[in-house]
Amino acid sequence: FSPKAMTGQKVLITAGPTFEAIDPVRGITNRSSGKMGYAMAQAAWLLGAEVTLVSGPVNQPVPYGVRAVQVESAVSMHNAVMNEIANQTLFVGVAAVADFGIRAPSEHKQKKTEGKAPGLDLEFTLNPDILADVGEFASKSTSKLTVVGFAAETQNLEDYAQSKLTRKKAHFILGNLAQESLGSDNVKLTLYQRDHTPLPIKIQPKLQAAQAALQIIANHLS
Ligand code: C5P
Repeated sequence: FSPKAMTGQKVLITAGPTFEAIDPVRGITNRSSGKMGYAMAQAAWLLGAEVTLVSGPVNQPVPYGVRAVQVESAVSMHNAVMNEIANQTLFVGVAAVADFGIRAPSEHKQKKTEGKAPGLDLEFTLNPDILADVGEFASKSTSKLTVVGFAAETQNLEDYAQSKLTRKKAHFILGNLAQESLGSDNVKLTLYQRDHTPLPIKIQPKLQAAQAALQIIANHLS
């Protein structure tokens, strides 16, 4: 168990939800406290890595030593990640990215008229899949980028995690059951890797769980 298992590594982490604006004061978002992603960033720094955190809107303090880039929408998170990815050795996608954005959000606040709903016809756009694009980049580039995704599911965790490994070209997927960890301080993670038996990590606070997962992943980094 090496305390500095990630010295020399450059780690990019996404965290939190994304926020998709409807108008300047409203929007749709996903439920994510950001605790897991921020814990992952702190864990990577504690293990000696240089850490960049691309975060959607959350109420979490940026961990000491971590460089944070604040974003709002999935598209802005995608841009921030793609701008930084070329220099990285490890990507961990923890963010709960909204699958859909709003086409043409209105410039002004939508008003309610005489107690009636504003008749908002929301048209959705498909957001980029950040993890899949990073996985694609890593599979092509000669750079030794390791790609880790998250699977927070309410059921069939193993099946979904295994399919994400292939579909998103990820080297590892960290799985957890949403009902056991959403907003919680503790998490029960399982580490999935292609052609390997799933590796359960004991339930513990998110920081310790992140450190345990990164210790194992670090053995895979060059
Ligand atoms: O497809 P799904 O959302 O279930 O996959 C979860 C994983 O994919 C997480 O690692 C999440 O951060 C990432 N993801 C992403 N961009 C999306 C959707 C999911 O990076 N648009």
